[in-house]
Amino acid sequence: MSELSVNHLLGIKYITEADIQLIFETADHFKEVINRPIKKVPSLRDITIANLFFENSTRTKLSFELAEKRLSADVINFASSSSSVTKGETLIDTVNNILSMKVDMVVMRHPNPGAGVFLSKHVDASIINAGDGAHEHPTQALLDSYSIREKLGDVAGKKVVIVGDILHSRVALSNIFALQKLGAKVKVCGPKTLIPKYINQLDVDVETNLRKALEWCDVANMLRVQNERMDISYFPTTREYTQQFGLNKKLLDSLNKEIVIMHPGPINRGVEITSDVADSKQSIILEQVQNGVAIRMAVIYLLASKIKHHED
Ligand code: CP
Repeated sequence: MSELSVNHLLGIKYITEADIQLIFETADHFKEVINRPIKKVPSLRDITIANLFFENSTRTKLSFELAEKRLSADVINFASSSSSVTKGETLIDTVNNILSMKVDMVVMRHPNPGAGVFLSKHVDASIINAGDGAHEHPTQALLDSYSIREKLGDVAGKKVVIVGDILHSRVALSNIFALQKLGAKVKVCGPKTLIPKYINQLDVDVETNLRKALEWCDVANMLRVQNERMDISYFPTTREYTQQFGLNKKLLDSLNKEIVIMHPGPINRGVEITSDVADSKQSIILEQVQNGVAIRMAVIYLLASKIKHHED
């Protein structure tokens, strides 16, 4: 297969295992490109991409922009806080105004679940979901699985536990879909109040004891508690959360086995993970960020190859 089965990347739910493998093979090539002295290829000189961020971001925003520039695309950036959205302009009006400037592809982060799917039905451009509320964050899940493949040789058969605030996490949902499509075994671990009721429908086991979860796994993906998405208290205090679900060096060393530590960022150091674990040899947190550029180059390149006027 040399082509994606989709024209947009709206979620891992909507793509196939073959799509993911094609993205990984393409990312392998771009990883080699970005390690060259000249880190740029001319592939997308005829493509214009708009990065629309209606919610804050450091890694995803910078990584997409770098990926687009490494592919030689023209790039425009939009942050809702400094735009006419603050004057009441709608999402569709905002995007249609941007598209009238001959934009081919939109990368969008939005606080509302389903915002990318909605946009894909109303505008004539290729849409990449850069995180929509607590729904999906597909490029994060792709770079996470790609980083596991790089570290452990394969994703199939590996045991991965996702720890923390599963309820509010788009990273958790996209990771579950990606890992399962690639043949990994997935558990989630966290306070019962932060495990969504629909988890049983996803064929995922729940473990509320962090030690047991860590003893089982090859990889632990530690998630941040997303206080900004909480309107009530889901656990008594941050201190108690950390005591039960925080990963520290003493706990890690007591396992008597090497596990791979991941975190999508941003990290709340000392809450879900201590600094000595986040910065340890077992942590691949910065490799995840590095791989994000190659993965996003691959996604953009493959989606651009489906745009009619683009000849590569
Ligand atoms: N992992 C992630 O999405 O980080 P940002 O919110 O900084 O983009």
